[in-house]
Amino acid sequence: MPDDSNTEIPPMFTPFSLREMTVSNRVVMSPMCMYSADDLDGTPTDFHVVHLGSRAMGGAGLVMTEMTQVSREGRISPGDAGMYDDKHVDAWKRVVDFVHTRTGAKIGMQLGHAGRKACEPIAWKRDTPLTDEEKWEIVGPSAVAFGPDSETPREMNQGDIAKAIDDFASAAERANEAGFDLVELHAGHGYLLSSFMSPLSNRRTDAYGGSIEDRMKFPLEVFNAVRSVWPDEKPVSARISAIDWNDDGNQIEDGVEIAKMFKAAGLDIIDVSSGNVTSDRRPVTPGLFQTPFSEQIRQEANIPTMTVGNLAVAEQINGVIAEGRADLCCVGKGHLFDPYFVRHAARELGYDLKWPNQYPAAGVFNPNPEIMR
Ligand SMILES: Cc1cc2nc3c(=O)[nH]c(=O)nc-3n(C[C@H](O)[C@H](O)[C@H](O)COP(=O)(O)O)c2cc1C
Repeated sequence: MPDDSNTEIPPMFTPFSLREMTVSNRVVMSPMCMYSADDLDGTPTDFHVVHLGSRAMGGAGLVMTEMTQVSREGRISPGDAGMYDDKHVDAWKRVVDFVHTRTGAKIGMQLGHAGRKACEPIAWKRDTPLTDEEKWEIVGPSAVAFGPDSETPREMNQGDIAKAIDDFASAAERANEAGFDLVELHAGHGYLLSSFMSPLSNRRTDAYGGSIEDRMKFPLEVFNAVRSVWPDEKPVSARISAIDWNDDGNQIEDGVEIAKMFKAAGLDIIDVSSGNVTSDRRPVTPGLFQTPFSEQIRQEANIPTMTVGNLAVAEQINGVIAEGRADLCCVGKGHLFDPYFVRHAARELGYDLKWPNQYPAAGVFNPNPEIMR
């Protein structure tokens, strides 16, 4: 019998283009902080080559770096990866070159500044606070702490704002030098850009606070600075918190407005997350709880979107793409659990995704053998 399992390409495995970047499928490895750069120095290590390289070999169309800091003071923790020094370029280039020469994936860098959420111990040492010598000053739009146990940031002045804009642009230039295909601004989760966008953290009375248009002034200045140094043929993304999960914070109508403003400025795709803007936890939300925000933004702001959150199986991704709820699907925890998430999904769907040249034998491996006596 002829094998006709490949006559139709599942939606998940259709290509997608932004400017001159084409990804071979719709799965993105979501940005995830790994706290594994050389201590205090932000330089990515062999860990990053293996971590990003293995997910690229695992079939993701696009792999994203963790939130990579644009300045030393913008680090969440001493283990954060950075792009704030010229010495970071060659270290990141090793990662990029591996992905480009050994896999079919594209690679993007998420650029960020932790703002009032900076200066924390690395994730698995949160029980041991940083010493006074290890700490640094934190800044934000207003002198409002992230939560009751957090330090109060210093309100940024015009000089701080100008420096942060320059830092984002310089980091983007370095990302281009290292060969990245896309940059994404981290404008969600309560970090610096997001903290200007949310009324819960931005209480400014100058031009950078007040209405949603005024709260977007700084993020848009950052975007314009990045776009002006980033090559025309390469796309820029921004991750946002579409809602703050707080009655006094941004609601989905604000999320749509934010997307419209970014789109008008020339953003190519918006990566739709939510919450984490204060220490209050959002309600426990099962299933694809953020995909409705992606869908609404995609329709009402008329901009391509990425969705993220609890995507775990191929059929969900096929459904999201086929129904036009997002253009790309970010998989975070699923990629930590299984670096070959995409290849295993292809097997599940009966789709013949070409294995790396070194691994064709994997294609005939039977994970469910019948044990014959
Ligand atoms: C260990 C870890 C680190 C994360 N770090 C980042 C980050 O650097 N930038 C970001 O935008 N989101 C970060 N996130 C959020 C993920 O990108 C993703 O949005 C979230 O885990 C939900 O997707 P999932 O259900 O597929 O894991 C992180 C999540 C995890 C689990």
